[in-house]
Amino acid sequence: MSAQIWVLGGTGRSGRAIAEQLAQRGLPAVLVGRDANRLHTAAEQSAAETLLAPSLAAAASEIRRQRPGVVINTVGPFTETAPAVVDACRDVRCHYIDLANDVAALSAVFDMHDAATRVGHTLVTGAGFGVTATESVVVKLCEGRPAPLRVRVDMVPSLAMEEGTVGEALIGTLLGGLEGHRITEGRLTRAQMFGDAVRLTLPDGSQVTTASMPLGELLAAQRASGARHVLSASSEAPSSFVIRAMMPAVSTLMRSERLRSFTVRRLARVRVKARERSRDHSWGHATIIWADGETREGWLRLGDAQEYTGAVPAEIAKRLLAGEGSPGAYTPAALFGSALAESCGGEYLLPRPVRR
Ligand SMILES: NC(=O)c1ccc[n+]([C@@H]2O[C@H](COP(=O)([O-])OP(=O)(O)OC[C@H]3O[C@@H](n4cnc5c(N)ncnc54)[C@H](OP(=O)(O)O)[C@@H]3O)[C@@H](O)[C@H]2O)c1
Repeated sequence: MSAQIWVLGGTGRSGRAIAEQLAQRGLPAVLVGRDANRLHTAAEQSAAETLLAPSLAAAASEIRRQRPGVVINTVGPFTETAPAVVDACRDVRCHYIDLANDVAALSAVFDMHDAATRVGHTLVTGAGFGVTATESVVVKLCEGRPAPLRVRVDMVPSLAMEEGTVGEALIGTLLGGLEGHRITEGRLTRAQMFGDAVRLTLPDGSQVTTASMPLGELLAAQRASGARHVLSASSEAPSSFVIRAMMPAVSTLMRSERLRSFTVRRLARVRVKARERSRDHSWGHATIIWADGETREGWLRLGDAQEYTGAVPAEIAKRLLAGEGSPGAYTPAALFGSALAESCGGEYLLPRPVRR
């Protein structure tokens, strides 16, 4: 197998962060993108090579022709981009990693588990901050324990923003995941978006409100725990009553393909100002309740969430190239356990369990 690691969307925020983390691990990346100037600028930052591919279809053809060892896909929305890229990877038995963070995109990759097992390559989906930070705490708290009854995960990202446009990849993913969901009696069910607000006291003493935002974390937490009831929440979810009341109408509107693409194009061009990190750390958090009343809570403390989104795919790519993966489709901690987060700079804080 080739030792080359390709980063699709190599000019983006996540692509550049991944290339930097690969370089820190002594693994040069090949940045794949559709604009020669932007590619050149991005590659200078991490001494990466570049590959110009005017479209994702062109990138898929190059995967079939050049047969890299690992492809990291950072081009969202992943429901649209993952199928063609995974097909190309399957044809040449190359490993695949993506940053998907919505329920539909993770499910689509899980559906390719059997095909990946037959071919003998590995698919890792959800390899960004949100899924990995929360899933890792669930895996840690459930180690050696029976399946719990209830799980709630909360993600609290802190990240610096550079000045510029938000980009279609990010906006498309956010607008694609506006349906409210939770796991009830083991099944994915509709639920109110931005509900179940909780005021959390972080281990550093500061406080934050999280509310339900059913991203890929929801599925990852259920698969990691086997719990019958799962809720995923985020500090990025607005908890105000007005926004919650507007959500059903907004998500209905966003089901219209034309309206959604128009909104994505308009919002993607909005310029945002550079922003410092809002707090010292990013956090993944889980509260888990077992049928006998035992309750465990745990935290994963991290630095900048964007930096962690760079570190996780880089660390996974390194391990896959070293032959440490298993064929099939997984989320990061499901494949490599709770220690993966520690290899990416995370630290677990686990208060003593209580019985209620
Ligand atoms: N799971 C997580 O926790 C997590 C964390 C961070 C990000 N993400 C997800 O990762 C994705 C990327 O985020 P980001 O912040 O890195 O976005 P970004 O800075 O906008 O970068 C997107 C990259 O994709 C490329 N691209 C966009 N549309 C394309 C197309 N049609 N064909 C080929 N290339 C295309 C862009 O290339 P150009 O330079 O040519 O435009 C750019 O390189 C988003 O979907 C986001 O939701 C997930």
